[in-house]
Amino acid sequence: MLDTVKAWVRQSQRMAVLTGAGVSAESGVPTFRDAQTGYWAQFRPEDMATEAGFRAHPQWVWDWYQYRRDLLAGVLPNSGHGALADFQRRHPDRITLITQNVDGLHQRAGSTGVLYLHGDIFENRWLNTPRHCCHIDHAVAGHPPYCDRCGNLVRPGVVWFGESLPPATLGAAEQAVARCDLMLVVGTAGAVYPAAGLAHQARSAGARVVVLNPAPSALDDVAQVVLRGASATVLPQLLGE
Ligand code: OAD
Repeated sequence: MLDTVKAWVRQSQRMAVLTGAGVSAESGVPTFRDAQTGYWAQFRPEDMATEAGFRAHPQWVWDWYQYRRDLLAGVLPNSGHGALADFQRRHPDRITLITQNVDGLHQRAGSTGVLYLHGDIFENRWLNTPRHCCHIDHAVAGHPPYCDRCGNLVRPGVVWFGESLPPATLGAAEQAVARCDLMLVVGTAGAVYPAAGLAHQARSAGARVVVLNPAPSALDDVAQVVLRGASATVLPQLLGE
């Protein structure tokens, strides 16, 4: 099956790649849904990844994002991220990289133009629509930082459950998926929409869809081929020269 997919990669003129937390697992970044090691085995997503959760316990939630930022500062992109970036360097017009990850590791590996569906964990924004007093200079250090004039809180610039994805980014991803002839779905459980819907859209539009994951995913049935393996090993095999 690996050889079949390698041939599909060679033939492909327009490939879309959707990645999830699994591509960063071998860098030492926990996934969300893996039993025991995933963040959602330890925390409830409604506490840590919703606006209501943040409003209820701002310090706790803020500190968790700070912990994740610190963890990311101490890890490196792995050979899966590297294989995607190398492929783009060799074939800049043939790949669109779409990720649900907020960890910035694709960019650090050298990928450009990455479509970050769920935002960037290193960005901050105001929780409430900022009044004119909410200048970033007025953010007072704290857990979380807050506006010293009106008390508005700073929150992480990621997409939480119940929030819309950045429309331009989602639009660009949908366009890439509608035009692709091959879609690789790598390291995602396929449980979160609209991101997971991109694989369905690619298949409906006639593209070949390949899932790469060491464990069963909710998108296995959408794919013509499922490769069971770890992305840091298999992506270099698939995308290498
Ligand atoms: P999940 O944690 O749901 O899924 C991670 C997937 O990676 C699982 O299917 C694993 O089997 C797979 N995996 C583990 N190790 C791997 C490896 N070495 N190589 C390849 N795959 C591996 O993460 P996502 O599907 O990315 O959203 O989760 C989607 C969204 O749910 C996240 O963006 C996050 C989360 O809640 C928000 O925070 C809004």
